[in-house]
Amino acid sequence: MLLKRYPRESWASNGSLDVAFWLEVHRRFRHECAALQGFADDYRQQRLAVRELAIVAAPRLSGLLTDLRGHHQVEDFHYFPVFRRLAPQLALGIDVLEHDHSDLDHDALAARNALRELRAALTEGDATAALAAQQFITAASRLCLRIGRHLNDEEDLVVPLLLEQEAV
Ligand SMILES: [Fe+2]
Ligand SMILES: [Fe+2]
Repeated sequence: MLLKRYPRESWASNGSLDVAFWLEVHRRFRHECAALQGFADDYRQQRLAVRELAIVAAPRLSGLLTDLRGHHQVEDFHYFPVFRRLAPQLALGIDVLEHDHSDLDHDALAARNALRELRAALTEGDATAALAAQQFITAASRLCLRIGRHLNDEEDLVVPLLLEQEAV
């Protein structure tokens, strides 16, 4: 398996620009998810009021989803077809990654809807707003959990393939 030949610990020192770019894009997704998680923690610890949570989460979630959508389109329509040609033996793994993208679309929509409901609930009393905040936090957490798993799985498949291609 290519991952054994190119273990994760060796990636940073490899010097591949393609790999560095890919990992940097993924690092930004992880960073945005960590920020959303931080807002959720701040809300739970009462360092953020429900209204503040709705305000600070909006641009973070919106930016994350826009960038994620663009990244997935580049992968689905450019990189993955190239990888399928280069390494037909990885077809099943790429099928899984494409399926992840469609699952992530559903989780992204759920998080976006939960945030919209949170903003609407701000005018409907404390209990309603608190319930909507909890539902948003749950939806964002589910989205980011799946993003994290997907990024790891994708890197394990794609990065060794890129390194192998550069080595030949
Ligand atoms: Fe992906
Ligand atoms: Fe990706």
